[in-house]
Amino acid sequence: MRKKIVCFSWKMHINTRQEVDTLATGIRDLTKAMTELEIFLLPTFPLIPHLSQILEGSHIGWGAQNMAFADYGAYTGEVPPITLIDLGCKYVEIGHAERRMYFNESDQDVNKKVKLCLKFGMTPLACVGETESEKEEGNGYVKIRTQVLWALEGLSEEEIKKVILVYEPVWAIGKQEGASAEYVEEIHSFIRGVVAQEHGSEAAKAVRIIYGGSVKLESAQKLMKKENIDGLFAGRFALWPDKFAAIAATALRKE
Ligand code: PGA
Repeated sequence: MRKKIVCFSWKMHINTRQEVDTLATGIRDLTKAMTELEIFLLPTFPLIPHLSQILEGSHIGWGAQNMAFADYGAYTGEVPPITLIDLGCKYVEIGHAERRMYFNESDQDVNKKVKLCLKFGMTPLACVGETESEKEEGNGYVKIRTQVLWALEGLSEEEIKKVILVYEPVWAIGKQEGASAEYVEEIHSFIRGVVAQEHGSEAAKAVRIIYGGSVKLESAQKLMKKENIDGLFAGRFALWPDKFAAIAATALRKE
């Protein structure tokens, strides 16, 4: 049984300790009973220590939105894995569409970071997704397959089981509506098929695939009913504790 995930990158939406106080305290308190879920928050780097003080002792984890592709050395402005470990991070988001678009991150960078993250015992969230034009021109599946293969390139079956794959179609990020539950289920089952073909059925059965891109309560309810959707990556529509908690509650097992 794959444990359901609800996570939340704050991108550059939550930018002061005071904003962290309000959002994180609220989320922590409202999701206290949701222990069957794996919940974690991803703030900007400098806010990680403050967030960790609020979440310490709760079942909610935290992590980073990015990480260097090397473990130490002359990489001005980068943050290495050991610093994240020192700050109690358990998760690292890797290769988000905005990182690929604005910071030219390549599939090879993503692969390096995924490996490094695993080496340091953290969980990588490897992001994949097609652009609008790739989808329209019928190249979406090829793009997603390539990104998935690169993200997992050179990993053992045991390592793949620890990775969280995040499907975020570029055309669904920052929009009024995200992708439909039917479409996401189709892509997630395709991704699981790619993992099965390349890395075996055990890895494919265990790897968790979550969806992000304009997730809101109404869409979350539909998404979480699908077999291959193992969780949600919340964004702008979860920037209030009660909104996040309501989205998270859709991932709880129903009788
Ligand atoms: P959004 O962000 O919900 O604001 O579209 C989602 C994401 O990019 O993870």
